[in-house]
Amino acid sequence: MDNFTYYNPTKLIFGKGELEQLKNEIPQYGDKVLLIYGGGSIKKNGLYDNVLSLLEEINVSVSELSGVEPNPRLSTVNRGVEICKNDGIQFILAVGGGSVIDCAKAVAAGALYDGDAWDIVTRKHIPEGALPLGTVLTLAATGSEMNAGSVITNWETKEKYGWGSPYTFPKFSILDPVNTFTVPRDQTVYGIVDMMSHVFEQYFHHVSNTPLQDRLCESVLMTVMEAAPKLLENLQDYELRETILYSGTIALNGSLQMGYRGDWASHNIEHAVSAVYDIPHAGGLAILFPNWMKFTLDENTSRAKQLAVRVFGVNPEGKTDRETAIEGIDKLREFWSSLGAPSTLGDYDINSENLELVADKAMINGEFGNFKSLKKEDVIAILENSL
Ligand code: NZQ
Ligand code: ZN
Repeated sequence: MDNFTYYNPTKLIFGKGELEQLKNEIPQYGDKVLLIYGGGSIKKNGLYDNVLSLLEEINVSVSELSGVEPNPRLSTVNRGVEICKNDGIQFILAVGGGSVIDCAKAVAAGALYDGDAWDIVTRKHIPEGALPLGTVLTLAATGSEMNAGSVITNWETKEKYGWGSPYTFPKFSILDPVNTFTVPRDQTVYGIVDMMSHVFEQYFHHVSNTPLQDRLCESVLMTVMEAAPKLLENLQDYELRETILYSGTIALNGSLQMGYRGDWASHNIEHAVSAVYDIPHAGGLAILFPNWMKFTLDENTSRAKQLAVRVFGVNPEGKTDRETAIEGIDKLREFWSSLGAPSTLGDYDINSENLELVADKAMINGEFGNFKSLKKEDVIAILENSL
């Protein structure tokens, strides 16, 4: 293992009925609250009314930023920053999925900065603070509820980047599986693909002696793969929603990545695809990840073989490590397809036309990927294999 420091200050509040905890948590931070949410799912399922009545009980004044888009946009972040400055906001409450939470993080940091929030996303300005924020998570996927990361899209320039700061860990996150009951089938599948991809990003590394980390990763994958098909049969099964919700948080709260750095190239390529085509994050990952795995197979075939044998049940007898590994990757593709995830860029009507542009966006900071460093021609090869 490499040396490491683990830091995660987010208070995780998990379980049925825990929304009530808003009344204990928020008053610690102030009485002028900005409520941030998305395109209306929380109004349809009643969560909005429940949150507002709890906020009323603790007598806080509430401003609102609504309509946060999937793949949240800089223009929306800037609207939120304006509200914070005009209304003297002291605390931000994000109620929604990863997009709402990521937007809230950017608003929180942008509120304490005089320039454009894009400077923060592009790391031209390093935040020296942020308004405190809390979250009520409604979709199991990104892990944003318990990490400091945020991904923002500049629709004008067609750029989408991740950034983060020690100041943007949520102070608390409330996760009630019931609040995920209304997530539609397709978004449920995307969430499952996203959390599995987060584990894969962390599983592929060159650091030796990580037996516990490997098995933690493998057990998250196996747990998700066991629960996912059953959940899709009954989207309102509490225990299955609970399992998937908890898995999504564990997959990206830093606890799997102690002692090594993950790869993260597939996420970088996907963000470039989404920036140009505005497709769902995990739709892109489902297409790209197996192709990235095949492209990088020779970097460390034994890890890919281990994954194939332990997680995908491939029998290695009579096969080379490479053959075993490829069988595992094919089983991953089969599994995601069985859930209904896309498998080619063509599924989103994306053809070869803009691959150069996508690759240029991915290469903005030069070569990337900690497991295998990718050059532009590598990115294009992975994209071509994904057509
Ligand atoms: O906008 P509303 O109406 O709320 O509807 C949303 C949205 O249309 C809907 N939804 C959410 N909860 C629901 C629900 N519908 C019914 N019932 C509910 N309970 O689902 C749709 C997608 O929501 P979104 O927040 O966009 O999904 P997700 O959580 O997958 O977030 C995706 C974003 O997160 C970024 C992605 O790039 C993408 O922009 N990521 C953030 C990460 C992080 N901060 O750590 C890491 C990830 O790898 C990822 O890159
Ligand atoms: Zn992701």
